Amino acid sequence: MGTVFGGMAMSLDGYIRSGNGDLSWLNDAMAKDEDYGFEATERRTGAYVMGAHTYREVARMGGGGGSAIPTYVVTHDLTMATGQNTQLFSGDLTELVARIKSSIPGDKDICVFGGGQLLTQFIELGLLDELGLAVVPVILGGGVPFIGRISQWRKLELRECRSYPSGIALLNYGLRQ
Ligand SMILES: NC(=O)c1ccc[n+]([C@@H]2O[C@H](COP(=O)([O-])OP(=O)(O)OC[C@H]3O[C@@H](n4cnc5c(N)ncnc54)[C@H](OP(=O)(O)O)[C@@H]3O)[C@@H](O)[C@H]2O)c1
Repeated sequence: MGTVFGGMAMSLDGYIRSGNGDLSWLNDAMAKDEDYGFEATERRTGAYVMGAHTYREVARMGGGGGSAIPTYVVTHDLTMATGQNTQLFSGDLTELVARIKSSIPGDKDICVFGGGQLLTQFIELGLLDELGLAVVPVILGGGVPFIGRISQWRKLELRECRSYPSGIALLNYGLRQ
């Protein structure tokens, strides 16, 4: 427990957001009768960490506050308005992870909710233990990349692979530190 995991949906060509922010590539791909593990993910999560772009977008869509699960938003803008149970953080991400680990129940994990810039830093710093990926059967041709530049390649261990009639494939990887 205390695992740091990322979970995101990605187009086949490696984007987590379309160029214009239209979400239909993702929403139209998901089938109501398919269980993608959202509830299981929420059950294991003791805290969410998200980048400022992701938080602003979640807040614009009416989320971003009031969850029983604490949320840490990584940003340079420490004046950003936030909802309840949400804290802004600027500084060393290693320290943030240590702080969160000491504050959540021992049987809970830390979910790096995105976006790509934040996830990339977690990988670069060796802070990510697990990566859950929903590969959506669409080629977007551009947008916000899932993972940006890192200084050295990282080996992953495939732990689970599930496919659905919708064409979505869930992949779960462990990262070797
Ligand atoms: N498909 C999916 O499953 C999924 C999941 C999550 C998000 N998304 C999408 O991803 C997009 C955002 O991704 P993104 O890569 O553009 O951005 P992001 O990672 O959400 O946020 C990046 C921003 O966070 C702040 N930040 C990041 N690292 C920091 C650090 N070490 N210290 C201080 N501040 C830091 C900076 O903002 P400031 O300069 O403003 O502080 C930076 O510009 C959104 O459109 C969202 O919808 C998709």
